Amino acid sequence: MAPMTRSMSPDGVPPSAAAGYYARRAAADVGLVITEGTVVDRPTAANDPNVPKFYGYDALTAWRPVVEQVHAAGSMIAPQLWHVGSAQPSKGEWTAHSSLESPSGLVRPDEPHGEPMSESAIADVIAAFVGSAAAARRLGFDAIQLHGAHGFLFDQFFWPALNRRTDGWGGATVAERSRFAAETVRAIRAAVGEDMALLFRISQFKTQDYNARIAHTPAELEAWLGALADAGVDLFDCSQRRFWDPEFEGSDLNLAGWAKKLTGRPTITVGSVGLTAEFVTADAGRPDSLAALLRRHERGEFDLVGVGRALLSDPTWAKTIRGGRFDQVRDYDPAALGSLH
Ligand SMILES: Cc1cc2nc3c(=O)[nH]c(=O)nc-3n(C[C@H](O)[C@H](O)[C@H](O)COP(=O)(O)O)c2cc1C
Repeated sequence: MAPMTRSMSPDGVPPSAAAGYYARRAAADVGLVITEGTVVDRPTAANDPNVPKFYGYDALTAWRPVVEQVHAAGSMIAPQLWHVGSAQPSKGEWTAHSSLESPSGLVRPDEPHGEPMSESAIADVIAAFVGSAAAARRLGFDAIQLHGAHGFLFDQFFWPALNRRTDGWGGATVAERSRFAAETVRAIRAAVGEDMALLFRISQFKTQDYNARIAHTPAELEAWLGALADAGVDLFDCSQRRFWDPEFEGSDLNLAGWAKKLTGRPTITVGSVGLTAEFVTADAGRPDSLAALLRRHERGEFDLVGVGRALLSDPTWAKTIRGGRFDQVRDYDPAALGSLH
């Protein structure tokens, strides 16, 4: 299950319905649940008060039954740890916080707001991620995912349009701009030990600019992900809007395919899996079909497949597909966004 923000946690505390919501997918053959983005202990880590926190007694107590029920249903679970940086909320009015945390005090390329993060703010944010990771371990989560995608804080450091720093946290190369994420990964690894899997989510696109790219060539992708793998990332979750989009010219490998080839780490592919009923019936000649997805998997392009919206509409989607009951597969219905069913 791909991480999906639901904005249904008043004051940052997951509601009691969250455990059943995740456990229903777990009970129906989802092997790994990655939770919605859940924020670390910094005043501006969230840009929406209904996003869950991953710190503090009330929120952590509310996460406990989520882990227990997902485990009881036979699945594994990782929290997605998040800091939005200077990203604006996707819906509603944006009230800019005076002290947003971002690499260079930019909310978009050339749109200033606030100050660049100080050395002490950077250290405090890393410490906040470590605090949440340690809490995940204590609560019995199986793995941790860092949200390094979609133009949020880690991605703002990767992205030269928002990271204009000339100190040790910026630079002309993606390896230099990866230092903030790499240092966070190292600090988490030191705190949680070697046997807890650390997943890192990346994307080329940003919510601020769908055409933005961090890596223009395989060599840049290797430098970027190599820095993170060396720091201790075990698996890359490679977010694309469509899993069948080739990442670079001259090959049909997608982002997860390249990430695996270049780092040797396992990867997750994700992006528009199963949004229509034709997904299951079309043959492998259609690049967006189940048959084409399976062919990529058999070629070893990636290890896991992330499913987002299809699992919101139908909690039993994975079980239905696994059982080959293709006549029961329905198109994705956006009405599912309205509740935690
Ligand atoms: C309602 C919704 C909320 C999302 N929230 C997050 C999030 O918190 N963190 C994240 O990394 N991606 C988030 N995403 C992206 C999904 O994880 C996934 O990559 C995307 O929806 C594509 O997969 P799909 O086509 O199977 O839905 C969200 C997507 C949706 C639809």
